[in-house]
Amino acid sequence: MAHHHHHHVGTSSNLSFEHTDNILIEERLFPPPEDIVKNANITAYMKSKGFDDYEAFYRWSLANRFEFWNDMAKELHWFEPWKSTFEWTDKPFFKWFTDGKFNIAYNCLDRYMGTPIEDKVAFYWEGDDGSSRAYTYKEMYVLTNRVAKVLQNQGVKKGDRVAIYMPMIPEMAASVLACARLGAPHMVVFGGFAASSLRDRMNDCDAKVLITADGGYRGGKVIELKKIADEAVAETPTIEKVFVQRHTGFEVPMAEGRDVYLDVLLNDIPEDTVVPCEPVDSEDMLYILYTSGSTGKPKGVVHVHGGYAVGCYATTKFVFDIKPSDVFWCTADIGWVTGHSYTIYGPMMNAASIVLFEGIPTYPAADRFWSIVEKYKVNIIYTAPTAIRSLMRFGEELPARHDLSSLRILGTVGEPINPEAWMWYRKNIGHNELPIMDTWWQTETGMILISPTPILPLKPGSASRPLPTIEADVVNKDGKPVGPEHGGFLIIRHPWPAQMRTIFGDPDRYKTYWETIPDVYFAGDAATMDKMGYFRIQGRVDDVIKVSGHRLGSMEIESSLVSHPAVAEAAAIGKPDEVKGEHVKVFVILRNGVEPTESLAVELKRHVRTLVGPLATPDELEFVTSLPKTRSGKIMRRVVRARELGEPVGDITTLDV
Ligand code: PRX
Repeated sequence: MAHHHHHHVGTSSNLSFEHTDNILIEERLFPPPEDIVKNANITAYMKSKGFDDYEAFYRWSLANRFEFWNDMAKELHWFEPWKSTFEWTDKPFFKWFTDGKFNIAYNCLDRYMGTPIEDKVAFYWEGDDGSSRAYTYKEMYVLTNRVAKVLQNQGVKKGDRVAIYMPMIPEMAASVLACARLGAPHMVVFGGFAASSLRDRMNDCDAKVLITADGGYRGGKVIELKKIADEAVAETPTIEKVFVQRHTGFEVPMAEGRDVYLDVLLNDIPEDTVVPCEPVDSEDMLYILYTSGSTGKPKGVVHVHGGYAVGCYATTKFVFDIKPSDVFWCTADIGWVTGHSYTIYGPMMNAASIVLFEGIPTYPAADRFWSIVEKYKVNIIYTAPTAIRSLMRFGEELPARHDLSSLRILGTVGEPINPEAWMWYRKNIGHNELPIMDTWWQTETGMILISPTPILPLKPGSASRPLPTIEADVVNKDGKPVGPEHGGFLIIRHPWPAQMRTIFGDPDRYKTYWETIPDVYFAGDAATMDKMGYFRIQGRVDDVIKVSGHRLGSMEIESSLVSHPAVAEAAAIGKPDEVKGEHVKVFVILRNGVEPTESLAVELKRHVRTLVGPLATPDELEFVTSLPKTRSGKIMRRVVRARELGEPVGDITTLDV
């Protein structure tokens, strides 16, 4: 086994890629447990198509992708069937399931009413403080209809954008689903983002109303959501109403005529109120979710009802292998795409019982995750490598204290998982035998694209192979495949149903995904593929920083720094971090006459925290007197990072020296 540690190879958007080809060759191969293979949803589907060999099935799926996706779509409810499965006349824009009439919320709730599923638990809610409540599908249906009625009474209708800034509570899920019912796109903002981030996102999409809470709890601390929301709404003229769900019960200021308690309104709405699902077009917008890019402000990634639903439904079914009796727990917050696709929509369309957890992995103690698995007899857990790495440090005794025998499948997402963490997860959480689904995807992809299904042999630290119908490759900047065991850019060759349709208000920015490398989807990641066709994702090749799997843009951090009166210029980079994957380091040039002091460094870090959010807080700050720039004056973060990490600087022909 040759282990060469491979750091991210940083490049800027001009896509020069200094491959080192210095890749980790992993020879350990773990076959899947036989009983899982025999009973897997993917096995049943393969059989129905006449296959028992994955390789042959995968090849069939590439040649018959529309048959595969038609089969998946037919398992969902349509008000009116689609006419054509796929249309790509206006490249790089495309459509799936054209002219179909559909609603994702119908497929999460309405479809189950009057069937035995209505009495099944939809959500096991676990509060930060350990309190818990269970909501059946029927109860979620009632709650969602009530929220939809409140929104409708406020004049929210199809197409209106609704901002959601809430803790992980059932009312959050009901709010998301209520928007979907009405055909009003939701725009969720992570509760850990600061007021200016919330403000910018609401303004970018002209949100009409905001749903928030008085506060939320994380690790015993109160997050003052309403207070932050007030600051943001003060500078968001389009917001007509703020609905406030009481959760902490602390007194919060309520603006007369603008703010109203959601729980009070909900109580006044009769339990049998039904707001029918709007039969929207397959291609109508379901949500906008902002995510960080290389340059500029965050991008509003647009997902639609039809294709997105089909993609989430199918990937949840095949990757996590959900069975009717399963309890599924995705630990991601709703503020991220993982929370959208795999805490709410995917598992609900598969009628799973879902754990909804408000808190953090280490509160009140570092065995919180494992105690939740034991408490709710979780069958499938889906979390981030960062969580695993941070819990590893507390030793094997903590998981050993809990009965984890209910688990059948493990998952990870958000950043590369190092083989050590993978092995620890398998041994200590997966009873040394459970398959780990290392799922690669992005906010933009909407659904998992590269991942094992539970029937594949696994390699530690590898996301394994593209899912059925997905054609992934590793190429150079001209789009030429680099071949096995060479570093290059990860690309996907053909649209898939849950892919983003555009960037809200900025279609040109959407086009760059298909134009950076001609005619293929460029993911922004470096990867290698081995001789078995297994992918190893190495990390971003642009200026996106992944802190604990959370996506941040260098630009956002730098803009917050230069807004401080002491700062002239700044550069932010991600540095490899044993637990967080990456942490933020910033380089700061002070204005003339300002002294670089320790207290100023502390103040500047706090400034970033206040303006962007706690996640973005730099772990390191260095005062410098110059930064490498291009002739046109752009800071070359790639060079800054290469110097910092002692790596080759690469192509510096555009560097102004
Ligand atoms: O760099 C890849 C990394 O996360 C990026 C996408 O981030 P975001 O849009 O926030 O979505 C995260 C959750 C879907 C990717 O470009 N990434 C995601 N999953 C993996 C990963 N890197 C390595 N292995 C993964 N399994």
